Amino acid sequence: MARSDMCFEKMIAENLKDTEALGKRLARDAKPGDVIALTGDLGAGKTTLTRYIAAALGIKENITSPTFSIIKEYRGGRMPLYHFDVYRLSDSEEMFELGHEEYFYGEGLTVVEWADLVEDVMPRDCRWVDIEYAGEDKRIYTVGHRCEAPMEQEE
Ligand SMILES: Nc1ncnc2c1ncn2[C@@H]1O[C@H](COP(=O)(O)OP(=O)(O)OP(=O)(O)O)[C@@H](O)[C@H]1O
Ligand SMILES: [Mg+2]
Repeated sequence: MARSDMCFEKMIAENLKDTEALGKRLARDAKPGDVIALTGDLGAGKTTLTRYIAAALGIKENITSPTFSIIKEYRGGRMPLYHFDVYRLSDSEEMFELGHEEYFYGEGLTVVEWADLVEDVMPRDCRWVDIEYAGEDKRIYTVGHRCEAPMEQEE
């Protein structure tokens, strides 16, 4: 995700409350057809952030990790939430078999855990959120999106 036409913002979460605040902000900004790409080590907090995004969208259902099912769909909020966990996919070709485009470019917000594993099929306009462990309750978030005005011309 280190591309010249992307802007990054760093945010330190001292605890779950700060992570909840980020989830609320991401949910507030979300429009149907948006995609949020989550990266970070095992246990960094990808599912936790997704839970806060879901709650802020008004989804009452409990969000569970879709590691085995790959995709879970939640309704009842401001818009549907499509929650992907692509950890178990062996390559991004499998995303086409799952029909990822119908979700990504559909009526809801898509959140993809381990998005770096399928980076080549992630939409150009998606929002990247990297989560870094920095202590028991502390996390460093790096939020990136494509800038309005690219800093460098593409070759
Ligand atoms: N500030 C914080 N933000 C997010 N998670 C936190 C924070 N503080 C503590 N945690 C804890 O860290 C754990 C993160 O686990 P979670 O399942 O969300 O990670 P994950 O990145 O989805 O893991 P996996 O790679 O297995 O999918 C949870 O137990 C959560 O309560
Ligand atoms: Mg997870």
